[in-house]
Amino acid sequence: MSINNSLPDENDEFWLFGYGSLIWKPPPHFDRRIPGWVTGYVRRFWQASEDHRGTPEAPGRVVTLIDRSFWEQLTDHHDTAPDKVWGVAYRIIPDRVAEVKEYLDIREINGYTIHYTPFHPAADVDPSLLPHDSRGEKGPVKTLVYIGTPDNEQFVGPQDPQELAEHIYRSEGPSGLNRDYLWGLEKALDSLSPESGDEHVTDLSNRVRTIAAREGGGIQADKQILRAQFPVVSPDPEESLHHDHHHHFKKVGSVEEQEETEKTS
Ligand code: BEZ
Repeated sequence: MSINNSLPDENDEFWLFGYGSLIWKPPPHFDRRIPGWVTGYVRRFWQASEDHRGTPEAPGRVVTLIDRSFWEQLTDHHDTAPDKVWGVAYRIIPDRVAEVKEYLDIREINGYTIHYTPFHPAADVDPSLLPHDSRGEKGPVKTLVYIGTPDNEQFVGPQDPQELAEHIYRSEGPSGLNRDYLWGLEKALDSLSPESGDEHVTDLSNRVRTIAAREGGGIQADKQILRAQFPVVSPDPEESLHHDHHHHFKKVGSVEEQEETEKTS
């Protein structure tokens, strides 16, 4: 595996923060994947999904980030939220940045817009993997993040947790079952750090498991979660969780194992 360990100025680098499906479905052409967190936000299943985990007729629910000061003014049944929103930062291989930006613009619409936020690597991350500024110092990493803000059409806002769980249980879209997205996120978060769990996600996951046990709808989903356990490298594209109808990850011929891309079928 050839990973470029030289440290260009942070300005030369493009890092992307994922707090949802990007945690286990990496963008193409990354060479570093770093667990860590951002602050000032609350992660909630408040974004309707018409294109991945639902349809325009029956939208599913996926996560977005809510500005914490805005969230504090709302009445949310889940009335606590961790200060840190855990996820993963990806560094895009410098030569592929233009290509990846173009691809991400296509992939991530449906209400999400581009924002930038400081990312804090987990305490045990090897500092040599992180960018440094022009004075040679390492601080938080500037990352691009996709957020469905409250003014976008797909923004749903606070929902009763049991109704939200029932909704997620019923929903399905071109990328698969909405419940697999929820359970995939729960599992991916658990894998990042002992402190990376998110009560909102865990509570919804537990509720959906209870519904699935009642309705007999958990078995297929569990198989897919097992496939999601090794999120960075997909040894065989057919065995990966990434075989959405629209997006199949595939290894890029001569490039080393951490590099994957999506192709449109
Ligand atoms: C994320 O994982 O951060 C993400 C994925 C798709 C849309 C928006 C955010």
